[in-house]
Amino acid sequence: MEKHDHEEEQPKPVVLITGCSTGGIGHALARAFAANRCRVVATSRSRRSMADLEHDHRLLLQEVDVQSDESVQRVVDAVVDKYGRIDVLVNNAGVQCVGPLAEVPLSQIQNTFDTNVYGSIRMVQAVVPHMAARKQGKIVNIGSVAALASGPWSGTYNASKAAIHALTDTLRLELRHFGIDVVNVVPGAITSNIANSALANYNRMPEWKLFKPFEAAIRARVSLSQGSKSTPSEEFAKITVEAVLRKNPPAWFSYGGFSTFMAIMYHLPLFLRDFIFKKWLKC
Ligand SMILES: NC(=O)c1ccc[n+]([C@@H]2O[C@H](COP(=O)([O-])OP(=O)(O)OC[C@H]3O[C@@H](n4cnc5c(N)ncnc54)[C@H](OP(=O)(O)O)[C@@H]3O)[C@@H](O)[C@H]2O)c1
Repeated sequence: MEKHDHEEEQPKPVVLITGCSTGGIGHALARAFAANRCRVVATSRSRRSMADLEHDHRLLLQEVDVQSDESVQRVVDAVVDKYGRIDVLVNNAGVQCVGPLAEVPLSQIQNTFDTNVYGSIRMVQAVVPHMAARKQGKIVNIGSVAALASGPWSGTYNASKAAIHALTDTLRLELRHFGIDVVNVVPGAITSNIANSALANYNRMPEWKLFKPFEAAIRARVSLSQGSKSTPSEEFAKITVEAVLRKNPPAWFSYGGFSTFMAIMYHLPLFLRDFIFKKWLKC
């Protein structure tokens, strides 16, 4: 019979992560938490997308679509049934959305927010009652340096991540009464599948009207985070997990390609920031 956590001297933290498809940040985080003696519940929309984790006994694989209330509640119930608790929630699932704001179909904007923003809130609302009952827990929201200085062609994504940063700041203050730490993890450019899924998404966009002359610059934005300066997801995950598992985790943790550059952009006067974006992203 399996020994239950409460019978062990030091129970392993139970970590629930969304968006763990192979090759992405969630997948690397799942393995990094597992390497730090955590019980990891790695989730994605389809088990097939994380098939290489299937035989790793340190991980429990579950399917979750963060756009579905029912799917989110089902996985949270399943984890609490099995382990009795959730110690760390990592809201990692996310999608990019590239296109000029004046022409991106509203349905694409809604889809981005439903995944990146409402998906994270769905997870938070399902998990918090369990953490609050035990007066402990950690919530990690994955934001983005893109929200520090909103440039052209990815306004939808930037806005969704800015929303995550704002929500995280509020949650940190509200949830401290229940012993829950809330961490804003803010990746720079990290190797992942994000450009592939962004391209698939981009290819479903209508032909631009006003912005047709900018097509090449807009398309180039799809793969901006996947250049030679991108940080390997394993490196990002290792250092992030170390920070999250600290007794007192930081409120803000940023790491990866362009993160220093974007932090500087955040502080620049707008005329200078706009000048840089105009040259860099050809808008
Ligand atoms: N890579 C970067 O440079 C970078 C920089 C800053 C922030 N981020 C953020 O890091 C997080 C991870 O992204 P990534 O770069 O690792 O991209 P990725 O490789 O494309 O991973 C995204 C993950 O989210 C999942 N996902 C998408 N929609 C979902 C839904 N409705 N329900 C559940 N899961 C869903 C994807 O599943 P499928 O495989 O089924 O699509 C995939 O597992 C995102 O929040 C992203 O915005 C990334």
